[in-house]
Amino acid sequence: MTTKKFLNNAYELDSVEQTLAFYKKWADSYDEEITDNGYASPLRTAEALLACNPQLNSPVLDIGCGTGMSGLFLQHAGFTELHGSDFSAQMLALAKEKGLYHSLHQADLNDPFDFITRQYHTVTAIGVMAPGHAGPQLIESVLALMEPGGLFGFSMNDHTLEDPGYQAEIDRLIKARQIRVRWSEYGDHLPQITLNSIIMVIEKLA
Ligand SMILES: C[S@@+](CC[C@H](N)C(=O)[O-])C[C@H]1O[C@@H](n2cnc3c(N)ncnc32)[C@H](O)[C@@H]1O
Repeated sequence: MTTKKFLNNAYELDSVEQTLAFYKKWADSYDEEITDNGYASPLRTAEALLACNPQLNSPVLDIGCGTGMSGLFLQHAGFTELHGSDFSAQMLALAKEKGLYHSLHQADLNDPFDFITRQYHTVTAIGVMAPGHAGPQLIESVLALMEPGGLFGFSMNDHTLEDPGYQAEIDRLIKARQIRVRWSEYGDHLPQITLNSIIMVIEKLA
């Protein structure tokens, strides 16, 4: 029996409810399908963060951690204490099985991050800043969770980049001297479907 494919439909989601229902169905075959398609953004984000001299032993918050594919590469890069959040119970259950995260929280990233009780030096959102997932406003919400000098590493794929709102928000925060860009590189996201992404690391300034 052929496993049902989901990837191409991931870019046609336009409500939180649709996205939640979509990941509920995709969870069990997610790792296999994105690995088969050469998912490169987690490794590229981990490497970009390493190039920015991160605090490897400080807790990292991996927003939209899904099944933990992002955590796998963060752990390989040397980050020692990972915490994850996602709104999909099915994706989180698979992340839990991987045993990578010190804590996992079921939370919608459009809600206030009420489960956060400390400030983070490093936050990641890999494969999460996208239409039907997280909008540009996520960046400012993440900055509120971070210490000055903290690093936020994220990917924005070609579909995300079609919406000028994400880059406009980054430009606004640079102009307001709230962030500086430490890393920005365009390259592979899912090479088997010829989809690229920008990996960006921004530093919180104040
Ligand atoms: C493409 S997956 C990326 C997962 C993981 N970071 C990775 O690199 O494999 C996107 C994840 O974002 C989560 N997500 C999408 N919208 C969300 C929301 N509003 N609140 C919380 N999580 C959300 C999904 O449940 C899914 O696990």
